Amino acid sequence: MKFKTIIEPFRIKTVQPIRQTTREERERLLQKAHYNVFLLKADDVLIDLLTDSGTGAMSAQQWSGMMLGDESYAGASSFYKFEAAVKKITGFEHVLPCHQGRAAERILFGCMLKPGDVVPNNTHFDTTRAHVEYRGAKALDIPIPEGRDPALIHPFKGNMDLQALEKILQGKQVPLVVITVTNNSNGGQPVSMANIRQASEICHRYNVPLILDCARFAENAWFIKIREDGYANKTPLEIAQEMFQYADGACMSAKKDGMANIGGFLAIKDDDKLAKQCKDVLILTEGFSTYGGLAGYDLEALAVGLQEVLHEDYLEYRIRSVAYLGEKLTECGIPIVQPPGGHAIYIDAKAMLPHIPSNQFPAWALTLALYVEGGVRSVELGGMMFGKNDANPAEPNSAMELVRLAFPRRTYTQSHIDYVSEVLYHVNSIKDTIRGVKIVEAPAVLPHFSAKMAPV
Ligand code: F0G
Repeated sequence: MKFKTIIEPFRIKTVQPIRQTTREERERLLQKAHYNVFLLKADDVLIDLLTDSGTGAMSAQQWSGMMLGDESYAGASSFYKFEAAVKKITGFEHVLPCHQGRAAERILFGCMLKPGDVVPNNTHFDTTRAHVEYRGAKALDIPIPEGRDPALIHPFKGNMDLQALEKILQGKQVPLVVITVTNNSNGGQPVSMANIRQASEICHRYNVPLILDCARFAENAWFIKIREDGYANKTPLEIAQEMFQYADGACMSAKKDGMANIGGFLAIKDDDKLAKQCKDVLILTEGFSTYGGLAGYDLEALAVGLQEVLHEDYLEYRIRSVAYLGEKLTECGIPIVQPPGGHAIYIDAKAMLPHIPSNQFPAWALTLALYVEGGVRSVELGGMMFGKNDANPAEPNSAMELVRLAFPRRTYTQSHIDYVSEVLYHVNSIKDTIRGVKIVEAPAVLPHFSAKMAPV
């Protein structure tokens, strides 16, 4: 007998209290935070869906692994466990630990990009785009057309537009191509194995390396297993191994599918010269090549986390718990990016709040309403996060105005998610009263993190 309910495949042994606040308090707190949820104190948030990055719960195995942390400066045993875990999944020769994903990006792009270069990506994450631009190169997003339509259902909406890729490779100076799995900026949508394989064939025809931005590689592997022909009987590990087989390197923010609170890596398949160059920068800026800015105990937590994330019961629960919220919101007519992604639900704020023009940041306005009404913290992926549009400065860079509700791993239960959906029903019922926002003060790079905003 197989029961229908997919349960959390763990029980809880350490808890962290969360604090209720009143609506009046939250209004005051938000004003003090300059109408930017990044500037709130976490203690003032009830359910924190700002990000799934480094916010998950670790397992007993990870905590016990941390006690084995070898803090030797060079050649620590913890590094070799971490390196073995990464090599098992990626098959890559060179593994450089980094303190988080953007450090890996900075090192790789610093060694490979120069002004005038072009970097195609199915969709750049904000820090990835910023690092490409920091080198004077141009970041081009080339998702498939279906990926740009929030309501459209497609099994692999994270895919890269391969025709667009080939055209760019023919005409532009491209030192590397990146595929982000899953496609975080585009609804947490997966990329199919066929798309990775074909992108790899195209890149290699033009002698350009393909890099995976693999923060959520295990979630992507699960979607391939359940949606792509020929993979149903393969394990998530086997699927992940095949994904990496088509690539020449990878940057990972291990704060996601590494199941740890900090960490990342840069891995390079077989380009010894590039690996040496990157290693020199790693030592200069992150730390010696066997710790890369991490403690030995962090490397232990990652070595275990990278195995746990590929457990089928975990991945089934993970993807199901996100879809559960997606179904509840869809039932009551709240427009979301369909189908639900791997790590988050993305509300289509443009469709939900048509009365707010895009230059008044509808998605940002919705993040404020979710906090004031229910103490729920989410994040804007829209005009603020993706910045000005060079071609048309009056319009934002992002075609979509999304609010992401990201699920920290193994952290919230189904009743927390039921509460979140109730808050959303309520906000939906008063949506006509939500006002847009304007920028009071914002830095030029990554403005969303520290911008000061005000209601219009
Ligand atoms: N690539 C992707 C696809 C990401 O989602 C992130 C981070 C990074 C790179 C950078 O990694 O934060 O470890 O330096 N995403 C987080 C988020 C912050 O909320 O989605 P990092």
